[in-house]
Amino acid sequence: MNSDPRVMEFFRSPLTRADSDAMADRIERHFDEHGFGLWAIEVPGLAPFIGFAGLIWARFSAHFTPAVEIGWRMAFEHWRHGYATEAARLALDFGFEILALDEVVSFTAADNLRSVAGMERLGMRRDPAGDFDYPGFPQSHPLRRHVLYRIGSDRYPADAASS
Ligand SMILES: CC(C)(COP(=O)(O)OP(=O)(O)OC[C@H]1O[C@@H](n2cnc3c(N)ncnc32)[C@H](O)[C@@H]1OP(=O)(O)O)[C@@H](O)C(=O)NCCC(=O)NCCS
Repeated sequence: MNSDPRVMEFFRSPLTRADSDAMADRIERHFDEHGFGLWAIEVPGLAPFIGFAGLIWARFSAHFTPAVEIGWRMAFEHWRHGYATEAARLALDFGFEILALDEVVSFTAADNLRSVAGMERLGMRRDPAGDFDYPGFPQSHPLRRHVLYRIGSDRYPADAASS
């Protein structure tokens, strides 16, 4: 998944095996430190791992941090079945009902329309003043500008789209 250019189109580059393993280690450390993180997604009877979705503390400083971010990444062959949305809804439930968060944010390169569609399916709303330069990209990189979506506990799940 992490080495697939289709999946990694809106990131700096596909990951090497070493970078992917380092990412898995970071995910496990986040669970150790915070008790939540990016959960692996299994589809019973179909595949033991199709991707991840979950909650993480943003790892950089920006106008909206500290903040808990919802994120997702799925292997290409499992796109467009609703799995990412289903998993993300469960992650939001966990964030608001178990962690009692006030707000969850999400962000991505403005052109990442599939991810933006996912945010909107969850009932997240774009913060029109929220666009920012994601520090994970070098200055002047075309994907550096990111859009920011938010959802507050007061609006969840009442505003979430039903499909
Ligand atoms: C972002 C990403 C997870 C979205 O994947 P996705 O397949 O579009 O999302 P879902 O799994 O929720 O599937 C939704 C689609 O399945 C359809 N669908 C089919 N059966 C469905 C069902 N039972 N329930 C819900 N949706 C269903 C929906 O209508 C929607 O289709 P559409 O694309 O025509 O609108 C995926 O594109 C990805 O991994 N991208 C690369 C990583 C990335 O960019 N991550 C975000 C960085 S911030």
